[in-house]
Amino acid sequence: MAALEKKGPISNIVIVIAMQTEALPVVNRFHLTEDPHPPFPQGVPWVRYRGTYKDLNINLIWPGKDPVLGVDSVGTISSALVTYAAIQALQPDLIINAGTAGGFKAKGASIGDVFIVSDCAFHDRRIPIPVFDLYGVGLRKAFETPNLVKELNLKVAKLSTGDSLDMTQQDESSIIANDATVKDMEGAAIAYVADLLKVPAIFVKAVTDIIDGDKPTAEEFLQNLAAVTAALDLAVEQVINFISGKCISEF
Ligand code: ADE
Repeated sequence: MAALEKKGPISNIVIVIAMQTEALPVVNRFHLTEDPHPPFPQGVPWVRYRGTYKDLNINLIWPGKDPVLGVDSVGTISSALVTYAAIQALQPDLIINAGTAGGFKAKGASIGDVFIVSDCAFHDRRIPIPVFDLYGVGLRKAFETPNLVKELNLKVAKLSTGDSLDMTQQDESSIIANDATVKDMEGAAIAYVADLLKVPAIFVKAVTDIIDGDKPTAEEFLQNLAAVTAALDLAVEQVINFISGKCISEF
């Protein structure tokens, strides 16, 4: 059954997390175990952790380490690929993308804030030809979760996605045009795939660095990664507890 037609409580979820540091606390919290035979092509670095929690089958998909360079396979290409493969193989009722993000202090973001995303768009796909410009921006709405946001008292914000950790002036103009409060490297790509395959998707983003501040982004990101990951893990737990036993229409 297509996920958006599902009537009963959610039973099968896929959580996509790009970095190992972000993923492992969630793996440990829900006692997930690595699938020794993941339903992915031979030789890809993608990792599936799985387990059950309350009435939920939880699958956490991490794109793994780059086979040559040994660093996390962050960014839009890996995240789109694993989301596609996970939906095909696991037929989830819901996708959750959780991760860290840069935040705009001009839009009210502070280090450690956790946001639920309302809209995703790209800021580094500039195609200045009518209609292709809109295709490049690739705006997608996240699945709306008014009850979740209210019950967990989470902030809601728009997300802008690009394949760079830093930000050029052109990126900044596009992020402002996207009205985004948070900036990541995966969200809009995952939203694109989820929309193509008609699986509802929600996005939980925790702020590690202030992109319109004076600290160098990479330094601030690495400095705050561990602490902010703890806040992210807690938010993911709250979201999972909220959705357990509920139908998608109750979100
Ligand atoms: N993830 C954490 N901080 C980020 C930033 N500034 N840009 C993109 N992705 C991020």
